[in-house]
Amino acid sequence: MHLKKHLIVTVSVLAVISLCVAATLPQQQQSPPKLVNLKVFPKNIPYRVLDHQMDVWSASLGVRCTFCHARNEQTGKMDFASDAKPEKTAARHMFVMTAKINKKFFEAKKDTLGMVLASGVNCNTCHHGVSHPKAKEPEEHHGPGGPPPGGAGAPPSGK
Ligand code: HEC
Ligand code: HEC
Repeated sequence: MHLKKHLIVTVSVLAVISLCVAATLPQQQQSPPKLVNLKVFPKNIPYRVLDHQMDVWSASLGVRCTFCHARNEQTGKMDFASDAKPEKTAARHMFVMTAKINKKFFEAKKDTLGMVLASGVNCNTCHHGVSHPKAKEPEEHHGPGGPPPGGAGAPPSGK
């Protein structure tokens, strides 16, 4: 009887020790979520690069992820692959536009995504933390004789 009690104590002490050891072992590396609906980024883009880019876009536009990304109605969780929100499609168009501007008009140093590092334009050049930047004349410089030809505040004509 005494021996049995002793054994139980020993076994439970061992169990506690092994639990503690397990807790300190490095956790199994979790593989990052699969990217399943990429149309403008390279398909093999590393997850952390895409994730960083998403942070940069959000900051450039002054928005959260939900500005472009929809939630799954059933689960209530974010569904990043979904194209339900038109803003996401608009962002793809903006990305293509930005890349075209740089390719055609700037001799720019680009990163692996074709985004500009040294010169040229990126999302923030136009957006500056605003989702819908307005085309407007500079406030300071209306010289003598009033607004410049074309009318104050008018965006440049043409497409
Ligand atoms: C301005 C719009 C915009 C914002 C803000 C934005 N995203 Fe995205 N996101 C996109 C677009 C566009 C794509 C698709 C890119 C493509 O087609 O190659 C995308 C793709 C993704 C994907 C890949 C989904 C898949 O499997 O195809 C993830 C994950 C993601 N975004 C996460 C985020 C997170 C997290 C945030 C907030 C920090 C965020 N996004 C903010 C526009 C946005
Ligand atoms: C050359 C200037 C310029 C650049 C560069 C630019 N944008 Fe825009 N973007 C605009 C303007 C101007 C608007 C507002 C259009 C409007 O309100 O009608 C806009 C609107 C948007 C919208 C809102 C569209 C909608 O339908 O609500 C999104 C999303 C967006 N831009 C994402 C981006 C992203 C992401 C980048 C970088 C990849 C980017 N933009 C780069 C000028 C730019």
